Amino acid sequence: MTLRTLLAACVLALGVTAPAHAIVGGNDASPGEYPYIAHITIDRAFQCTGTLVTPTHVVTAAHCTSISGPTLFTSVPLGQPGQLVELTIGAHKTPEPYLDAGYNGESGGEEHVAKSVSVAPGYLGVGSVASDVSVIELARPSAKAPVKIAGPGERSLWSPGTLATIAGFGVTEFEGDTPDVLQEARVPIVEDSVAAEAYPYLAPGVDALFGGFENKTQIGAGYARGGVDSCQGDSGGPLLVPASNGFRLVGDTSYGYECAEPGYPGIYGRIADSTLRPWIESVAPGSVSNGTTTTTTSPTKPKGPKSTSTTSGTASRSLR
Ligand code: ARG
Repeated sequence: MTLRTLLAACVLALGVTAPAHAIVGGNDASPGEYPYIAHITIDRAFQCTGTLVTPTHVVTAAHCTSISGPTLFTSVPLGQPGQLVELTIGAHKTPEPYLDAGYNGESGGEEHVAKSVSVAPGYLGVGSVASDVSVIELARPSAKAPVKIAGPGERSLWSPGTLATIAGFGVTEFEGDTPDVLQEARVPIVEDSVAAEAYPYLAPGVDALFGGFENKTQIGAGYARGGVDSCQGDSGGPLLVPASNGFRLVGDTSYGYECAEPGYPGIYGRIADSTLRPWIESVAPGSVSNGTTTTTTSPTKPKGPKSTSTTSGTASRSLR
């Protein structure tokens, strides 16, 4: 409860509504099904999910690890405020860190501390919804099997309509409770125009730079009728698509209007596309697949209205 309370306080401090905790409309993962999924805590207060992409690198959301914005050329050394980053990789039971003792071996996951965190150059800090991805470097290698980010030759794997898998330790209803075990669900990747229509603007009075969907660094997934979605605590966790041999990682959980609401797909960092993928690969060498797929590629559609300074009916809603 301390964790939830602190999380709530933290999110409120960011000017958005209090969180509920995991995946909505999902089901329990099987033990060991997702060895690469990490439970992450920042200062034993703020909970996120992440994905192991090499033995020493975990991809998560920038808003989980940064309150200050991008690290342009270097990693941020730990020891700065808000930078005790602990991880439990491959847990089945939801890890429950103690304020004074961290994870303490109870969830069955492999426990780690971070050595450094790199935040995507386009992430502008609190309130920014673009480039919401960061890479955590572990102090020692994980023995768990990583999952790779879809490569440039695998664009067709994540076309709109593809049924993607989301997973995390977040709440199972908006403002609801944390699940006992890791949750998983499937949601279709949506056209960029659908996501752009749902999230045209973040909040009135907020610089347009900080708001709205664009299709360089964000991708949406969800049913038009809602019902299945990521939710608070799932942030940073994976959006996975099937490949010939297992999964590829194509997104990290970022934001949405409440959770699983009709007409509001979940938004994920677009980490397998040409803006974020090369940056991640530069920080985490070996994290990107060099595979190719034989199906027809469908190029990214450059459509989707840009944010304008005119307001909209959804403007004051909470989006994290
Ligand atoms: N921002 C949330 C977090 O910090 C993730 C919310 C995802 N929301 C959604 N409707 N898909 O955990």
